[in-house]
Amino acid sequence: MRIVVVGGGIIGLSISREFHKLGYEVVVVDKGEIGKGASWVAGGMLAPQSEGLEPGIFLDFCLESRDMYQAFTKEIFVDTGLDVGYWKSGIFCPAFSLEEKVQLLQKLTMYKNLGLSGEWIDREDLEKRFSSLGEDIVGGVFYPEDAQVDNRLLMEALTLYCREYNIMAYEHSKVEKIITSNGKFEAVRTDKNYIDGDVCILAAGAWSGEIADIPVFPIKGEMSAVDIKKGELDMVFFSSKAYLIPRKDYSRLVIGATEEKVGFKDGNTVKGVLKLLNGLIQTFPHMRDRNIQEMWYGYRPATPDLEPILGESDIEGLFYATGHHRNGILLAPITVKVITDLIHKREKSEYLESFSYKRFLK
Ligand code: GLY
Repeated sequence: MRIVVVGGGIIGLSISREFHKLGYEVVVVDKGEIGKGASWVAGGMLAPQSEGLEPGIFLDFCLESRDMYQAFTKEIFVDTGLDVGYWKSGIFCPAFSLEEKVQLLQKLTMYKNLGLSGEWIDREDLEKRFSSLGEDIVGGVFYPEDAQVDNRLLMEALTLYCREYNIMAYEHSKVEKIITSNGKFEAVRTDKNYIDGDVCILAAGAWSGEIADIPVFPIKGEMSAVDIKKGELDMVFFSSKAYLIPRKDYSRLVIGATEEKVGFKDGNTVKGVLKLLNGLIQTFPHMRDRNIQEMWYGYRPATPDLEPILGESDIEGLFYATGHHRNGILLAPITVKVITDLIHKREKSEYLESFSYKRFLK
């Protein structure tokens, strides 16, 4: 069986790898270079608790994927020899006011009631660990199970897998139309080629809504990175000001991210970069002297309820794996599982009912 995967991001390449392992012929189509889209420009936090997700199916989905991550990255290491920087560093959510403290403590109680871990840390204890700390920080909540991965290394590894194992990649090929015959998927037509197959999986991130009739739209995020000293910060800081992600090899401190509904408007803006850098120095004032390594931006694939669209479409043979919004990196392992179970094992995960495109038809 030949599977056409539209989108060479974290979801598309992870799905391609799994179907290749299962013995399918897989082709990937991307409007740019595979591995270099929104997943390349993400932060790589694996942060269902720090994101403050409310109890429900989406939180369960995220937690299950977080639990799968270590094994997922280990398998990729075995396949490619590349360590993708998975780090169960934990994520600390600082409170910058008493009001924020109350909100964070309420979330912490909510998670504890679900049997999840987390603890409040007072400013006094933080001061013992960090030489400089923003003066407004009153303490914060630490979630030890939240983690991170170096999304760029992960994308390099998945790209390497595709190239090494001769997964055919049609790059710089913009999908213009999904061609059907008698209600069944037949092919995708790009601006350069006609690519047929038995099954198509649409994993085109923020561009998915331009290819199929589903409500997926971009939410732009600006990012930056500065130098960091070895051992300076051993967990992610995630607050209302910014999130700060020290890479496991201390090559950089990634700072994210703004959120704006401005369509596919390109470029970094003065206000965006100022917000990020102010967030950095409000957290760690001594970092005002650091060199800026890079500024960049990307587009999160959002849906009206900010949850993904997964599973069958109204076209036989066309499946969706898109709309992961802020959690695309986190949700790769579980998305691969529910999609391969559906197509390969013909087993429909209970999650698919909740994440069907049909919820938007009501
Ligand atoms: N996952 C963090 C973000 O989307 O900015």
